[in-house]
Amino acid sequence: MSSNRGQETASAIVETFKRRTRGSGEWDARAKRTMPGGDTRASSYYTPYPAYMVRGDGCHLYDYDENKYIDFLNNYTSLIHGHGHPATVSAIQEQAVRGTVLGSAAEVTVEHAEMLVDRVSSLESVRYCNSGTEATHLAMRAARAFMGRDVIVKMDGGYHGSHDYVQVNVQADTESEGLPRPRLTTRGVPSAVLEDVRIVPFNDLNALEDVLRAESAEIAAIILEPVLGSGGGVEPEAGYLQGVRQLADSYGVLLIFDEILTFRTDLGGLQAAIGVTPDLTSIAKFIGGGLPLGAFGGREEIMAPFDPTHAQTIPHNGTFNGNNITMAAGIATMKGYGADEVARINRLGQRLKEGFNRAFGEKGVSLRAVGEGSIIRVHWSQDRIRNAREGALAQAAAEELPRLLHMELMNRDIFSAPRCQFAISTPMTEGEVDRAVEAMARSLEVVMPYIEEQTPHLRRA
Ligand SMILES: Cc1ncc(COP(=O)(O)O)c(C=O)c1O
Repeated sequence: MSSNRGQETASAIVETFKRRTRGSGEWDARAKRTMPGGDTRASSYYTPYPAYMVRGDGCHLYDYDENKYIDFLNNYTSLIHGHGHPATVSAIQEQAVRGTVLGSAAEVTVEHAEMLVDRVSSLESVRYCNSGTEATHLAMRAARAFMGRDVIVKMDGGYHGSHDYVQVNVQADTESEGLPRPRLTTRGVPSAVLEDVRIVPFNDLNALEDVLRAESAEIAAIILEPVLGSGGGVEPEAGYLQGVRQLADSYGVLLIFDEILTFRTDLGGLQAAIGVTPDLTSIAKFIGGGLPLGAFGGREEIMAPFDPTHAQTIPHNGTFNGNNITMAAGIATMKGYGADEVARINRLGQRLKEGFNRAFGEKGVSLRAVGEGSIIRVHWSQDRIRNAREGALAQAAAEELPRLLHMELMNRDIFSAPRCQFAISTPMTEGEVDRAVEAMARSLEVVMPYIEEQTPHLRRA
């Protein structure tokens, strides 16, 4: 049964949020008349309602009630230069005058492709679509076509967007004994999908080898995020990704890296940093300069059938594929994100992580900040989280704490992903990072009565 101080703390945080965001509350009531839940994107929704952001400027966001936030959500890592990056804005304006999409082959698409292929050594050949969802969907189609097999191996807790074949164990299986069992994540996905998807835990080479040993003749590819993103910010253990590559080779299946989240962490993607070369890669987020874009590519022989003149072509369509304005924005953005900037914002990420961990220690809470590069995540345990199941169990045991911490940080002008994920953008300096650390320390003081009474296991002795 809930104690009063814990619940009072929770209510006070939500009431402060509501008082600061009255205008957003009114918009939310209006939005609910036309959209279920009043919103159109599950991952950016939070209760009692999401703040309505009306303007962005550099690394700041302003909501309808003129609260000014430091933007660590960064549209889920996709705004590498924050808001209103001058070169990107100019590129968009200039292209808008010439035409947003001309419905034909375009120089800007070629230039964008050349930049990607130059940066990512595993990308011999690339094609464009309009989202990360499409990018993983098409990478899987390419793998299946090349191998002439249907089965895909996916990680428990792996997120690859919203197409049907990856709606299996997006939420980790926290109930089965032993290995995770494949389960559809949502109603509305055909159960036949389960016939062609196998699930293994992240960081477990033995489980992967068992599946490959039993069924490699049916398996087209393994798909994985080099760091599990929505599955809890779980990092690969030393040698794990190299081991996956070796197993893929030994058993003759393809390896697809979903670098949609991790691509920003190194000029050539996380694959360059760790020295593992996948057969196919999907990329999205910041490469569109803040406009919707996805890309998938890899070995030339696997990608060749996307050539419309190929004898066994795979038709690949999309009204806005390679559209001029997104490509122009993406080129300007990538030009401004060279090796120096990658390294600088990665250092800021490190500073944020260390600052959070210092605050957790000083305030005596058993939380842990993790992450390499410019994306930092809070784990709801001090223990090392090895896979999505461990992360999900720790989060469930933290009850309302993630939500309350996120909201209290907003009350202190720090905007992060509701799952307490923080992405650095290039307009940030040490000043913004230190403000977030300070806000985290103060927020912990505010939520302490809740921790002490509702989740005492998170209090350090
Ligand atoms: C690892 C990963 N894959 C795929 C996607 C889906 O991308 P999109 O939202 O552009 O469809 C995301 C989105 O957050 C992601 O993080």
